[in-house]
Amino acid sequence: MKTVIMAGGSGSRLWPLSRELYPKQFLSLAETQTMLQATLHRVRELSDQRPMVICNEEHRFIVAEQLRGVGQKAEILLEPAGRNTAPAIALAALRACCDGEDPLLLVLAADHAIEDEEQFRKQVEVARPLAEEGDLVTFGIVANAAETGYGYIRRGAPRGAGYRVAEFVEKPDLKRARTYLSSGDYYWNSGIFLFRASRYLEELERFRPDIMEACRRAMVETYEDLDFLRINQPAFVECPSESIDFAVMEKTRNAVMVPLDTGWSDVGSWSSLWQLCRKDSVGNAVHGDVMSQDTTGSMVHACSRLVVTIGLKDMVVVETPDAVLVADKQRAQEVKGVVDELRSQG
Ligand code: GDD
Ligand code: MG
Repeated sequence: MKTVIMAGGSGSRLWPLSRELYPKQFLSLAETQTMLQATLHRVRELSDQRPMVICNEEHRFIVAEQLRGVGQKAEILLEPAGRNTAPAIALAALRACCDGEDPLLLVLAADHAIEDEEQFRKQVEVARPLAEEGDLVTFGIVANAAETGYGYIRRGAPRGAGYRVAEFVEKPDLKRARTYLSSGDYYWNSGIFLFRASRYLEELERFRPDIMEACRRAMVETYEDLDFLRINQPAFVECPSESIDFAVMEKTRNAVMVPLDTGWSDVGSWSSLWQLCRKDSVGNAVHGDVMSQDTTGSMVHACSRLVVTIGLKDMVVVETPDAVLVADKQRAQEVKGVVDELRSQG
């Protein structure tokens, strides 16, 4: 089994700490290690093969340094531009198959937090026979809120340690998410997958031959540069941008879901980060030089200056040298919209 870590996202909902040049997977948020390092550590004992990290070439030095920091050797695939996860995983799968091998790939996001890591590794092991038989395994989390940022999986007939995926709906609107939640039959897609490299490529070829073709062409002229593998720029830039969820998981008939009851978070917003962090007796998660008076249930993060709060309740305050966020914790999801607007203003 080979581990593939996807580390090319922009993590904009944790702005202003997470930036294009330094997105959240490279930050240490709830732990001392960065999220990328914690992800590598979590799966280290599952495989003795060198893991693959796939990221944007802009981040190559950050990734190399963070791997060195934990003494981890890895093969680092560099994308000249982000084309979302379907092409990223295709590049990793093509690379994994290049020596005539066809390993199982454990595909992980670099920015998830998992509480019970032992149990997580156990679930990967029980999922292994399914992947060996050719199923595309996704790990599912019992849905407990009408989140619209996740994929939803309806559980079908039992299969091995999991269930067939009766339906997979990526990022439904709020109305549908509420219906799914109240039915009690749905799990969230964790965004962690286990399958044989060739099986993913076959399914991608079937549903998105255009992506497959672009990735194949992009792998023709790769070149190795230390631990880096550079992908052919013009061919990859032409590749359509799509997630594995829309491109393959919604469509394949071979998806199987193995439940994950380990405590899981995709650390998708300031409020979910607050939930993960250690808090004081009145529910404040504080970082840096902070003085809080009569403040409860809040996340206060100071990077470069003293931050003083008085009389706040359930707020997020994040100070960085060039931007400060002050927001209602319940509305933390809206940060993404603000970042999109800032981007469009250049
Ligand atoms: N290499 C590479 N290139 N990695 C990427 C790219 C890319 O172009 N785009 C995203 N990633 C990485 C991100 O860094 C993250 O680790 C992972 O791929 C997933 O991408 P996200 O952009 O965070 O996806 P999402 O959170 O909106 O949705 C996915 O995860 C949810 C759970 O967190 C989907 O799989 C959902 O179905 C799922 O519920
Ligand atoms: Mg995510």
